[in-house]
Amino acid sequence: MAESIFAAINDDGYNAALLPLRESLMSLVRRIKELKVDVVINLCEEFRGRPQLEANVAGMFEALGITFTGCPSKALTVCQDKFKAKAILNAFGLPTAKGRLVTSADQKIDIPFPAIVKPNQEDASLGIFQDSVVRDPASLQEKVAKIIDVYKEPALVEEFIQGREFNVAVLETDRLQALPVSEIDFSAMPESAPHICSYEAKWFEDHVLYTTTPAVCPAPIDDPLRERLHQYALAAFQAMGCRDYARVDFRMGGDGRLAILEVNPNPDTSLDAGYCRALTAAGIEYAQFWGLMIENALRRKEEPWFSSDDVRIDTPIFWQQLLENAVRKKGRRWSGQ
Ligand SMILES: Nc1ncnc2c1ncn2[C@@H]1O[C@H](COP(=O)(O)OP(=O)(O)O)[C@@H](O)[C@H]1O
Ligand SMILES: [Mg+2]
Repeated sequence: MAESIFAAINDDGYNAALLPLRESLMSLVRRIKELKVDVVINLCEEFRGRPQLEANVAGMFEALGITFTGCPSKALTVCQDKFKAKAILNAFGLPTAKGRLVTSADQKIDIPFPAIVKPNQEDASLGIFQDSVVRDPASLQEKVAKIIDVYKEPALVEEFIQGREFNVAVLETDRLQALPVSEIDFSAMPESAPHICSYEAKWFEDHVLYTTTPAVCPAPIDDPLRERLHQYALAAFQAMGCRDYARVDFRMGGDGRLAILEVNPNPDTSLDAGYCRALTAAGIEYAQFWGLMIENALRRKEEPWFSSDDVRIDTPIFWQQLLENAVRKKGRRWSGQ
């Protein structure tokens, strides 16, 4: 992803550099200062293999007065905790799937079956497989125990919403806009299999669960549904304190009820990813999108509390996060999640 952005913005007249974040935050900051960076295009999705630390990296930029593109650390933090994110969305009157935070396998919960069990603070479908959809108390208990054991964090148990899945990319420029809606097309998946974007469906290109979950953008939906999705996505973007760009994921029950599954404050912006599909459908070119994001960041730089003489310079830069997780390196693909 970083290379594509690098190529696009260099062609567009920006003077960019690629800066990988490895083990040392200090080295990264030193390089940013040496290069006299104007704007960091922040593509960090994890630090030391932990997605939970992506917000800390953004927080470090904020504390040091380094201007960067994308969501602020606070939005990255609250969106990472799915249960708390749900509470915030609900407080803003936005619909989500009913869910309970579970810290032990024998905890009694009042979610009807079928339910879905997932780690509360991961992303990219980590820990989400076909057997995450459970239909009886024994399977539920087993799955909860496994999540707690493997991820060392609470499990989130949600009502399983059987139905369509939509993604809405939100873009902030001088105004906030929702881009064309994308849908995961589950029609080629066997009826008996849970229709979800599991780990295999996102990351293993040759897997049948991958090939049977293509994304379609624009989604074949009518105007009223598009309008509802757009309104909810824009409201969710604001409720979670997002900035610049984000993607909001939905499920729709058979009764037409929409539920926000999550707000992704740092969505994949690779050329073959869901966010870019939406940009293309909206007629916005890749380089143009990044130009807009750089302009947003430069405007923020003019706000006095954001500036730091130390890092004020002429060269926009951008840094690349090394994907240290070997599994992610393989079959990297983005169908919307
Ligand atoms: N409550 C739910 N009802 C139906 N499907 C769900 C539900 N929660 C998650 N899923 C399925 O699992 C996928 C991943 O879940 P999500 O909460 O978005 O986690 P991640 O952050 O790992 O992407 C979703 O894209 C969807 O297909
Ligand atoms: Mg998701």
